[in-house]
Amino acid sequence: MGQSRKLRILTGDRPTGKLHLGHYVGTLANRVRLQDSYDCFFLVADLHMLTTRFERDILAETNQNIRDVVIDNLSVGIDPERSTYVLQSLVPQIPEIALIFSNLVTVPRLQRVPTLKDMMRDLEIEQPSMGLLNYPVLQAADILSVRADVVPVGKDQASHLEVTRELARRFNALYGEGTLPEPETLIGDVPTLIGIDGQAKASKSLGNAILLSDDVKTVEQKVRGMYTDPARIRADIPGNVEGNPVFIYHDAFNDDVAEVDDLKERYRQGKVGDVEVKRKLAAAINRFLEPVRARRAELEARPGLVAEILEAGSERAREEAAETLRMIKDAMGIAWKG
Ligand code: TRP
Repeated sequence: MGQSRKLRILTGDRPTGKLHLGHYVGTLANRVRLQDSYDCFFLVADLHMLTTRFERDILAETNQNIRDVVIDNLSVGIDPERSTYVLQSLVPQIPEIALIFSNLVTVPRLQRVPTLKDMMRDLEIEQPSMGLLNYPVLQAADILSVRADVVPVGKDQASHLEVTRELARRFNALYGEGTLPEPETLIGDVPTLIGIDGQAKASKSLGNAILLSDDVKTVEQKVRGMYTDPARIRADIPGNVEGNPVFIYHDAFNDDVAEVDDLKERYRQGKVGDVEVKRKLAAAINRFLEPVRARRAELEARPGLVAEILEAGSERAREEAAETLRMIKDAMGIAWKG
């Protein structure tokens, strides 16, 4: 207390399954870089998960999915000693803040959020529930409950962050400038990673992603099946490097830049086969995943660890959120004084 405070970050994941290389380039790599210079909160958004998953048999997987998300984050090198891991449903102040915020944004504004339309299209939802419509408002409450300054996310989340900023501005305009920070969005290096099948986005549900938890053999097998330049039916035909998933992955994951340059040059000239390009890519991805697998093995050998990390982190988040809620009610003039 009293000393200058590091800028604060909050970001999160819904516990819907294992994370993949797309999550790594989109946001996890940023988190690893940022953890030294910022006070980081990583939220497991189990209440957000309920906006699209509510069948009983799916919910039975929730505990395991929460563990997987935390272990995936830890395995890429996000240190629980320096960062705070939070389970959203253990912080009741978050939904309370969301309820207050929901009065400061209109229904048509939320209906215009492009992510809502994407989710409805992908999941074939005809009419959004109140919960789904309110998704960006709950996210604003996550972020503002700890008064985060910066939110590192994938590009698809930019429209949600816009709602967070609008809510902060509106709150401050109504109740007092400077009460809530207007957080900044930080988009990862490679905003959206292409699928291994050439579809625009790698996604676990589309089955076109390499998971952080895939073993050596699975990586080799997935890379062997990767989509490349479809016009290149023989190795001696000049190929297209730009937009080619195999080279996009080489650029993102192969630390041997000279090897990548050489492969690109020979590919353009029709002097290298897909087999060699893919063999080197699988080796590079496995090189990248080797320390990730080693950390995962260590973490899995300590059974109580995830619960300990989440419970301690959520306690800290509850303290922060209770303070925020006090500030909110004071600014609004609704704090009960008896
Ligand atoms: N909506 C985010 C996603 O689907 C997850 C999330 C929930 C989040 N709360 C957040 C991200 C707060 C950043 C900040 O990826």
